[in-house]
Amino acid sequence: MRHLLNPLDLTVEEIDDLLALAGDIEKDPSRYAHVCDGKKLATCFYEPSTRTRLSFESAMLSLGGSVLGFASADSSSAAKGESIADTIRIISCYADICAMRHPKEGSALVAALNSQIPVINAGDGGHQHPTQTLTDLLTIHSLKGRLGNLTIGLCGDLKFGRTVHSLINALVRYPDVKFILISPPELKVPEYIRQDVLQANNVEFKELGNLDEALPELDILYMTRVQRERFFNEEDYIRLKDCYILTPKKMKLAKEDMFILHPLPRVNEISVEVDKDPRAAYFKQAQYGVYVRMALIMRLLEVGTPC
Ligand code: CP
Repeated sequence: MRHLLNPLDLTVEEIDDLLALAGDIEKDPSRYAHVCDGKKLATCFYEPSTRTRLSFESAMLSLGGSVLGFASADSSSAAKGESIADTIRIISCYADICAMRHPKEGSALVAALNSQIPVINAGDGGHQHPTQTLTDLLTIHSLKGRLGNLTIGLCGDLKFGRTVHSLINALVRYPDVKFILISPPELKVPEYIRQDVLQANNVEFKELGNLDEALPELDILYMTRVQRERFFNEEDYIRLKDCYILTPKKMKLAKEDMFILHPLPRVNEISVEVDKDPRAAYFKQAQYGVYVRMALIMRLLEVGTPC
């Protein structure tokens, strides 16, 4: 039995396989409409979500399976004090696979250690969000035709943004990937990402405070929201929340073939006028999230590809 807790749980070959399967699903979804008949996905979300929970549910329904679950801690027995370990033991009796989001780092690992079914980390605190990374990789691959030889700008809340941590973890394994990390000093990537991931893999990166300076160099700009829910005080959040706002004027500094990604939700960091720019790929990115989660569910349930 396999779980997905961190992008590094998958080899580069397994990621390539998932992206290829997701690409096939995109071309002909009807071919996959019954591969999970009779299977059940539990979505156990202790934290708010629109894309991740609903794209998982859409993915399982599109594969012919069923879904059950809860969308907040308040509507589960966590509100009465039940532990994650006990909850996943129970979910294992009701479902074949579980996607879990929780505000505490390491919660998906605790679930996996006590589970009889595959557990997918749908976001654990400020730690990791591996299925967002699969979505991002599929989007980048579809837009640029490759995952190597790219200069990637990551902008915004690089401290608390778990999608950033997962994406860096995954991309350092591809050749000639360079990072430009754009953030205010208070929201720089954690030291373990800088040392244990970037420096340990001899990956070229620089840290900047100025988005305009970075824009002309980038092949991909990955914008992120400042993560209000992870701040210890509201004053710091208010001071930092609008530190970067991507506008049509700033987009004039970017290459014609630089694409903008964002895991969403967006708050103010990309002005709505940018949505009209053909380089704005964030809504397409959310659509790719369904295909790649369909592929992941199939592989973790060891469901065969239809003839
Ligand atoms: N990208 C992402 O995780 O979005 P949600 O919080 O809406 O699931």
